[in-house]
Amino acid sequence: MNRLFSDSLIGWYAENKRNLPWRETKNPYHIWVSEIILQQTRVVQGYDYYVRFIRRFPTFQSLADAHEDEVMRLWQGLGYYSRARNLHFAARQIAEKGYFPTSYEEVRALKGVGDYTAAAICSFAFDLPYAVVDGNVYRVLSRWMGIDTPIDTAQGKKLFAKLAAELLDTARPALYNQAIMDFGALQCTPMGTDCSSCPLAETCTAFREGKVGEWPVKSKKTKVIPRYFHYIYVQKGRHTLIRKRTENDIWQNLYELPLIESDKALTEDELYQSILMQQLLGKEQSHEAERCRASFRLLKGGVKHVLSHRVIHASLYEIKMPADFPSPPGYIEVETAELQNFPVSRLINQFFSLILTPDN
Ligand code: ADE
Repeated sequence: MNRLFSDSLIGWYAENKRNLPWRETKNPYHIWVSEIILQQTRVVQGYDYYVRFIRRFPTFQSLADAHEDEVMRLWQGLGYYSRARNLHFAARQIAEKGYFPTSYEEVRALKGVGDYTAAAICSFAFDLPYAVVDGNVYRVLSRWMGIDTPIDTAQGKKLFAKLAAELLDTARPALYNQAIMDFGALQCTPMGTDCSSCPLAETCTAFREGKVGEWPVKSKKTKVIPRYFHYIYVQKGRHTLIRKRTENDIWQNLYELPLIESDKALTEDELYQSILMQQLLGKEQSHEAERCRASFRLLKGGVKHVLSHRVIHASLYEIKMPADFPSPPGYIEVETAELQNFPVSRLINQFFSLILTPDN
């Protein structure tokens, strides 16, 4: 460890720490839930989800006993839904064992728990000497030590893991880890960094060399792939069609309206042909489906939904079908008024609101 580095961080933390509910506990289950929520979510956004989740599932046993749909429903809007599925799966693993694991290796073996999360749980809950290494830590260390190795390479990951372990204050791992994370989130920020109030400025390589904005280094830019999602609200009297997304893709195990995906924008006619070809409206009765063409219309177009590696261009169409028209395989027919009881992505939730309150 480096006494000056650690004392400066911990001193800064004593003055600037955020009071967060998962910092008031040593319960490893609660800490685990908070860390999974915070993996890809900012504190302000995750806070209420954490409180609701722990209120509904106060123990790993209560989570293990829950139906997956309810877990997904609580997670709705947070994104990266595999986190919720893994959390639920792992709660069942833990329940089978009967107690929350207490060693780093066992914690790391839980589904959805990587090096960072295992170190966070073990240090915060058990005061075990494991250093957390996340985006905040990459930023603080690369700047303070002046490291040019890109953080998104195997070599960079190895180097930062080694440096983080060396700098860890092994006598106070929980305090040190919380301190470096808050320091990265609030003081040593990605942009607009205020070095004039930083207790580490005097010894910081980036500050000395005027290169705060240049570190950490990344080797490649994230490539964003466009996808075009055309959703169809199939109105069959008081009912509509939905399906569960089971494929290994975004939003797995969440529900959605019938979807036509394309790799480019489609005109209304092209889309209607696609619907017929994909037999969304039933195989035998395609002449009947042709008759429904008159009711086919755009409800909302041009919705841009941005995820980390993709941008989804989404639209919502409506079509009216006879109530006795058979549903295609894989779909369930539900009362339209019940739509909001199903766990869905934020995008689909937006479309459900539109369907349920058409005047808004
Ligand atoms: N981000 C990830 N884990 C965190 C924690 N325990 N406190 C604050 N921010 C975090």
